[in-house]
Amino acid sequence: MNTARDHYDQQLASVYSWMAGDPEAALKRNHDLFRQLEIGSSPLGGIAVDLGAGSGFQSIPLAELGFSVVAVDFCAALLSELSDRASNLTIHTIHDDILNFSQYLEEQVQVVVCMGDTLTHLESLSSLQSLLLSVKSALATSGKLVLTFRDYVSTEPHGAARFIPVRSDESTILTCFLEYHEKVVEVYDLLYQKEGDRWVLNTSSYRKLRLDKSWVCDQLQKLELKVIQNEIINGMICIVAQKSKS
Ligand SMILES: C[S@@+](CC[C@H](N)C(=O)[O-])C[C@H]1O[C@@H](n2cnc3c(N)ncnc32)[C@H](O)[C@@H]1O
Repeated sequence: MNTARDHYDQQLASVYSWMAGDPEAALKRNHDLFRQLEIGSSPLGGIAVDLGAGSGFQSIPLAELGFSVVAVDFCAALLSELSDRASNLTIHTIHDDILNFSQYLEEQVQVVVCMGDTLTHLESLSSLQSLLLSVKSALATSGKLVLTFRDYVSTEPHGAARFIPVRSDESTILTCFLEYHEKVVEVYDLLYQKEGDRWVLNTSSYRKLRLDKSWVCDQLQKLELKVIQNEIINGMICIVAQKSKS
């Protein structure tokens, strides 16, 4: 098993955007989602922080909606893809752990997003609690937090249902195998790539937290971050919380 950081550096970063399919469709989907969630309806824009920004599927729409974006990720290769894709947009990339994001802010921010299942990559529930505490301090009054993550709790696949064909084309095949434990899911990525006339297999695994959405909502409420939305959107749990007071 690898750490999530090593897993991205050594295997997933090279195929991450390919795995996501059509990048324009992913950007549009998030643009539409932010509009639907009324993120970016303020005429003044402000600062948005993207935690686990990857190759920019949230940072770019946020910048297009008028935010000055701080994009944090510990994978340099994905941040470099983000910068290439972002051209003239106001996106400041930070190569660091998302747990350190607040060190890079000089003022309170209007929006924090942590989307695309990044939250489940944290090592423990206590890391998530510290992250949420930092988010609370970073947000200005009325600022919003958007979380999206996969539901690894309400159902547990068995047998062959644990093999997920992620994507394939003539030169690459990515299959995921999920091994469920009590508190975590071990995710094995099986990556076949064509070299000449033979297929070469690379395997790597890392752990994801099985995050219970009710537990996440409770943590937010304890911090006086009011949950204003809690639903399934694009196959992921989507929770939006708003800071009511400092
Ligand atoms: C599943 S990807 C999501 C990327 C992007 N948000 C999206 O939806 O396409 C998770 C991202 O979070 C990053 N990541 C995971 N844990 C992190 C941490 N503790 N600190 C910084 N980046 C992290 C990974 O490098 C990866 O880019």
